[in-house]
Amino acid sequence: MNGLIKSLLALTPVFCSLPLLFLGFDIASDNLGANPIQALHIRLGDWSLRFLCITLAITPIQAITRWRGMTECRQLFGLYTFFYASLHVLVYLFVDHNFMWSLIITDIIESPYIWLGVLAYIIVFLLGLTSSKFAMKTLGKNWKKLHRWIYLASVASVIHYFWQLKGNLTEPLVYAIIIVLLLSFRLLAS
Ligand code: HEM
Repeated sequence: MNGLIKSLLALTPVFCSLPLLFLGFDIASDNLGANPIQALHIRLGDWSLRFLCITLAITPIQAITRWRGMTECRQLFGLYTFFYASLHVLVYLFVDHNFMWSLIITDIIESPYIWLGVLAYIIVFLLGLTSSKFAMKTLGKNWKKLHRWIYLASVASVIHYFWQLKGNLTEPLVYAIIIVLLLSFRLLAS
């Protein structure tokens, strides 16, 4: 049983790369629908939020099962959150705005929902940058403090999601409930 779990965990990078692979297929076969740029935003934004929730879920899973074997996966899921969020931002900067900084700055100033995306991305970026064992040792106690900011990143991401939607709010509501549950677990456990 342990061997099976270990093999499944070793395959985590493969599972985490599948959304990108499917996205690549859809781009190559021109299967992104009537608004491909928006579809890219949505797919990459959704996957960064999903990986953020998965990363947050590891501590409660480990606490409930009393099995510590997923710690390395948590780091990996965190890095995939950073990876998909970076692609989401790159699509915004390059595909959407062709790196035209004056347009980008005006758009950001006029779109408050993007401010929260930027806040979430800065946090995810800092956490990605300090995810190595070396950074953990160097930062000492401050490492834990910094990495608790992931909760703020998750709240900012969900508000960013709610804010830009015009129609059905069911999906962001599901993410909001998941994040409230994960946050409550964290608060009760501390
Ligand atoms: C960790 C950081 C971020 C996360 C987790 C995130 C997540 C999301 C999610 C889940 C959506 C909605 C997708 C849907 O409708 O299903 C979204 C939309 C969007 N995000 Fe982000 N985002 C982040 C950062 C950013 C940043 C920094 C920018 C821009 C600088 C940005 C720009 C956008 C735009 C323009 C949309 C609207 C797409 C559309 O419907 O046209 N996001 N994001």
